[in-house]
Amino acid sequence: MNTVKPLIGLGTAAIGRPQYINVRQEEGASISLEEFRNKGRDTLEYAYQNGIRYFDTAPGYGLAEELLLDWVKTKQDPDIEVATKWGYTYVANFDPTATTHEIKEHSLTKLNEQWLQSQKLLPYLKIYQVHSATFDSGILENEEILKRLYELKSKHNLIMGITTTGDNQIEVIKKTLNIVIEGNSLFDAFQVTYNVLDQSLNDIMDTLKEQHNKVIIKEALANGRLFPNDNYLTYQPLYQILQKLADKYKVGIDAIALRFCIDSIQPYKVLSGAANSDHITDNLKVSNFTLNTNEIEILKSFRSKPSEYWEERKKLGWN
Ligand SMILES: NC(=O)c1ccc[n+]([C@@H]2O[C@H](COP(=O)([O-])OP(=O)(O)OC[C@H]3O[C@@H](n4cnc5c(N)ncnc54)[C@H](OP(=O)(O)O)[C@@H]3O)[C@@H](O)[C@H]2O)c1
Repeated sequence: MNTVKPLIGLGTAAIGRPQYINVRQEEGASISLEEFRNKGRDTLEYAYQNGIRYFDTAPGYGLAEELLLDWVKTKQDPDIEVATKWGYTYVANFDPTATTHEIKEHSLTKLNEQWLQSQKLLPYLKIYQVHSATFDSGILENEEILKRLYELKSKHNLIMGITTTGDNQIEVIKKTLNIVIEGNSLFDAFQVTYNVLDQSLNDIMDTLKEQHNKVIIKEALANGRLFPNDNYLTYQPLYQILQKLADKYKVGIDAIALRFCIDSIQPYKVLSGAANSDHITDNLKVSNFTLNTNEIEILKSFRSKPSEYWEERKKLGWN
């Protein structure tokens, strides 16, 4: 069943910044920037050697975009697809005590500044995304920026996308689908949070597919919240089911959670948030099995309200 492997893409947030949003409690062992860089490069290479051809990055992910650029140039493989974003600037300078890690700015100046660097990813760069499109940033109504995106899309044959975050992901997607420039829809790719706990994407998945949009799933493991954790008492019944399925298919809970995304909505890609090669090995066990209809329905029954899911997500720290 190796055909599943191309469905998994590698998200590079965890390999670009030593600190990232997750549920981890203990301090990670400290390593030098050089070691961190080498580990990131090894993770990219390991993913590639194991069949992954889709890589998601962003200037906001510390050194990830630069790492990916240096690495991808050595591959010369036309099957590689890179997706990057614009709109966030990484400002923590790899300082574990930093209080601000990233700054959001959806301005034309930021777009042009970040495009200068990101365009170096061409010809591997296929999808260019607004990083975390929201109503309050004004991006969805800023004609100057939308026209510039259309220009980049046409000139470089890019798929233009947005990524969504928050309990109103679906409203943001609906608004985005109506953006038309010179008679053409501007956006064709949507990177959306979807997992056993937040299933709101279901409300618009059929429309997205009918209109031939690419749907890329992020946060399939709910930032680690799907792994047994005593801090989330309400999820204990879910943890038991996930463990039961993991035992049945002889895989980890990560593979069950990724498989749930694949089998329940058949997206274009599901991003692995792997921070190292071991995670990738575990994640790619999705290709060993499929969930049956009954198992998908059981997992679907654990969905929470988007407002509660995102309230909990806001409380996660940078670890
Ligand atoms: N557009 C956006 O705004 C946005 C936001 C978030 C993510 N993303 C993209 O989506 C990708 C994935 O998202 P994510 O990393 O936030 O969420 P995720 O896949 O839901 O969670 C990954 C977290 O789970 C933990 N984990 C434990 N065991 C794991 C295993 N076997 N395999 C993988 N992870 C394991 C890791 O934490 P430990 O290392 O502590 O174990 C990791 O930080 C990112 O890399 C990024 O490309 C985009």
